[in-house]
Amino acid sequence: MVVNKAEYYLYGVNLMNLKGRSLLSLKDLTPSEIRFLLDEAKDFKKNRLKYIELQPLKGKTLGMIFQKRSTRTRVSTETAMAELGGHALFLGKDDIQLGVNESLYDTAVVLGRFVSGILARVFDQSDVETLAKESGVPVINALSNSFHPLQALADIMTIEEHLGKLEGINLAWIGDGNNVCHSLTLAAAKMGMNIHIATPKGYEPDDEVIKYAKEIAKSPKQIITSNNPIKAITSTKVVVTDTFISMGQEKEAEEKIKKFEGFRVDLDLVKYADPNFIFLHCLPRHKEEVSDDVIYGSHSVVFDEAENRLHTVAAVLKNVL
Ligand code: CP
Ligand code: NVA
Repeated sequence: MVVNKAEYYLYGVNLMNLKGRSLLSLKDLTPSEIRFLLDEAKDFKKNRLKYIELQPLKGKTLGMIFQKRSTRTRVSTETAMAELGGHALFLGKDDIQLGVNESLYDTAVVLGRFVSGILARVFDQSDVETLAKESGVPVINALSNSFHPLQALADIMTIEEHLGKLEGINLAWIGDGNNVCHSLTLAAAKMGMNIHIATPKGYEPDDEVIKYAKEIAKSPKQIITSNNPIKAITSTKVVVTDTFISMGQEKEAEEKIKKFEGFRVDLDLVKYADPNFIFLHCLPRHKEEVSDDVIYGSHSVVFDEAENRLHTVAAVLKNVL
């Protein structure tokens, strides 16, 4: 069937066939599917009123399991569901039986009988995998200890908005090589960006993620890891960091802050970047990883990045539900 753009918007025909699919990590999406979702997100941003009028998710319900706190992910998802005509149910850790009175398996099966999809913020990646396997409905990873695919989609949307393209752009990741770093690395590999990840020793990204990213990149040279923030940031167009203390790591805070000395993104470090660099941070932010003059300075695009969480999650929800 040949479907033109007008028919696609009228009838919600899913050109990329993402319907019913889970998004547990960016491994689940091809570069063309990422491109499609970015275009969908741009369209949602430009024509939000059209979507509010068309209500493509009328009658759909999303169960949102949150085992950790959230501002952006929760509010962007609830807002997107409302604007697309669907309904979102917030299932916080004190709201449902999961983890206290009921197993993940039983929760997955029961929720799957009620809702059209599940979005889940969990600790172990295996939990979103179990939810996807047992619920029978699409599951969207809203941050695990391993990945944050929704964040990476918003990040690359923001980079493209500000720099006009993704292919060939040099990106420096300064900080912890965990969840957000993993997803951005996969996004970079799939979309033709070059990423240099500089972490303190012992906080490097997962070997498996780097191996996979190098395999799928056009050239393994697109993905570099080191313990040298100055080398990573030199002449780079995009500078990205994340909190040094991820949720669940509060007990390690003192030790980590010591080990991350030299990795703070401040004026001393960004002077090595391209003069027109942009700065991204998924937020929430703490002063130890980035100085006020960088995060509130003229190179920072962190609030565009936060806003793009809405447009990208709307694109994902519209297409998988
Ligand atoms: N960046 C991000 O995921 O923020 P929240 O923890 O507020 O959802
Ligand atoms: N790395 C952070 C990201 C928060 C959005 C965490 O896991 O807490």
